[in-house]
Amino acid sequence: MTRIELTVDGAKVVDDVEPRLLLVQYLREQLGKTGTVIGCDTASCGACTVHLDGHSVKSCNVLAVQADGAEVTTIEGIATNGELHPLQEAFRECHALQCGFCTPGMIMQSADLLAENPHPTEAQIREGLEGNLCRCTGYQNIVRAVRYAADATSATTDGGAA
Ligand code: FES
Ligand code: FES
Repeated sequence: MTRIELTVDGAKVVDDVEPRLLLVQYLREQLGKTGTVIGCDTASCGACTVHLDGHSVKSCNVLAVQADGAEVTTIEGIATNGELHPLQEAFRECHALQCGFCTPGMIMQSADLLAENPHPTEAQIREGLEGNLCRCTGYQNIVRAVRYAADATSATTDGGAA
């Protein structure tokens, strides 16, 4: 077992884990963060996407021990004071989910995309989300939601100017 210390959704945690334990398994099975889901386990679908020190990673492709000392944010940690994150709001507003299985990963990947590029074009959104799959084929509304969130955020940043 290896001791790890990290911050998950704002809370410090210290745990002893097997060196082979995947970060997604650690989050779900040891911390109960089941909002992060497993779609493929082979780094193909993006459903397990979380942020590691502010950047999106597929948590089925990272070992828990690699997160030692890091800050991990999951879908369960992005709302603040009971207020949905702008992307959560946008996905709801734009009907950007059907079964919802891909949604946590889509939102975490989109958050990283918007942090890097607050005003992406449609092509840039599609490229930014190409590692995230939606089996309900809801891509059209997902792209719309990311644009919606980008517009909402820039309206806030610009002082709410319409
Ligand atoms: S479960 Fe990690 S990419 Fe599919
Ligand atoms: S909403 Fe069902 S997989 Fe995307």
